[in-house]
Amino acid sequence: MILVTGGAGFIGANFVLDWLAGSDEPVVNLDKLTYAGNLHNLDGLKGDARHIFVQGDIGDSALVERLLAEHRPRAIVNFAAESHVDRSIHGPEDFIHTNVVGTFRLLEAARHYWSALPATEKEAFRFLHVSTDEVYGTLAPAAPAFTEDHRVEPNSPYSASKAASDHLVRAWHHTYGLPVLTTNCSNNYGPLHFPEKLIPLMIVNALAGKGLPVYGDGMQIRDWLYVRDHCSAIRRVLEAGRLGETYNVGGWNEKPNIDIVKTICALLDELRPRADGEKYASQVIYVKDRPGHDRRYAIDARKIERELGWKPAETFDTGIRKTVQWYLDNPDWVANVQSGAYRDWVAKQYEAA
Ligand code: NAD
Ligand code: DAU
Repeated sequence: MILVTGGAGFIGANFVLDWLAGSDEPVVNLDKLTYAGNLHNLDGLKGDARHIFVQGDIGDSALVERLLAEHRPRAIVNFAAESHVDRSIHGPEDFIHTNVVGTFRLLEAARHYWSALPATEKEAFRFLHVSTDEVYGTLAPAAPAFTEDHRVEPNSPYSASKAASDHLVRAWHHTYGLPVLTTNCSNNYGPLHFPEKLIPLMIVNALAGKGLPVYGDGMQIRDWLYVRDHCSAIRRVLEAGRLGETYNVGGWNEKPNIDIVKTICALLDELRPRADGEKYASQVIYVKDRPGHDRRYAIDARKIERELGWKPAETFDTGIRKTVQWYLDNPDWVANVQSGAYRDWVAKQYEAA
């Protein structure tokens, strides 16, 4: 079996669902259930004995050590993190706790467990750390996309905490020989995406008749990848990645934020036209920019393609259509995650908008 951390969040839940749809290998899912963790993401696995959910913190060494001893996983896939840049600007401490200290404790628990494994299990064991392209910082308009050799230059508390965790993972391999793999992926989108992030926020605000808050001039560029393609990349790296290596994962799909917002509006105009005949794009409002906002990210994904034969299955056109349709089909999921805590966050973040 494998141990997945953060498997009730956006990417982790998609990963667990895809894993169990394609294999009978059980998953122990350790998740703290912060505001971003949602057990409803895993409703499809109710009663499925292959999925063992445990609420807990990756920084709780005693708990993690107990889970490792009890379930003897052949791999750990670490998704658990505080993941929202804007929240890291308002309150960085949780990011240090989970992304840095939590990863450190998880690595230590993994090292102790791995060291004591019999030779064949020890050889087969993997620790896969899920990271982000944001560790590389920002790109000038004409600069080549980030390769794995790009300098690490994080600019936000979030990306600095993820870069720190990547360094720890690297050091645990170099110093102790822990068999690690790291993936650095670009912006994901798709089902189960918490509506504090750009794409789901725009969809739910549009449908609720609210403003669509675009930061600054809206010309910041992100490289978007459909979440299930990220999951397939992680499975492939786990299966065949070279130990100690990092693999950049991306969709070759750079787009300015305002284009993303207009695409969502156009899809909603087609799939759920406004009752008053107006276009959703009329709801766009330009708001104060994010402090230290990275201007452009772009991933050079040639290494994972060349070495492991991975390529995304989804184009942006197909992926964004599926995503908008998923939000239209799942109003209960949206209502459920828009709890009191969510409303407090939106009020705080967009109060000046
Ligand atoms: P998310 O915020 O949706 O989910 C994070 C999950 O981790 C939640 O279920 C939360 O409850 C859990 N968690 C938080 N702190 C924990 C702790 N201390 N112990 C155990 N569980 C804890 O995040 P996401 O977007 O699904 O991102 C998952 C991972 O992928 C993160 O490591 C993130 O840095 C990375 N990543 C995200 C993207 C993206 O576009 N979303 C892109 C590249 C990499
Ligand atoms: O690049 C990978 C990263 O992508 C992940 O590591 C992070 O966990 C994930 O949150 C994401 O970070 P971003 O900051 O790029 O994503 P977000 O959806 O917050 O914002 C995308 C872009 O849209 C960014 O340029 C900021 C802008 N934006 C965002 C929000 C929430 C807006 O213009 N308005 C908004 O209301």
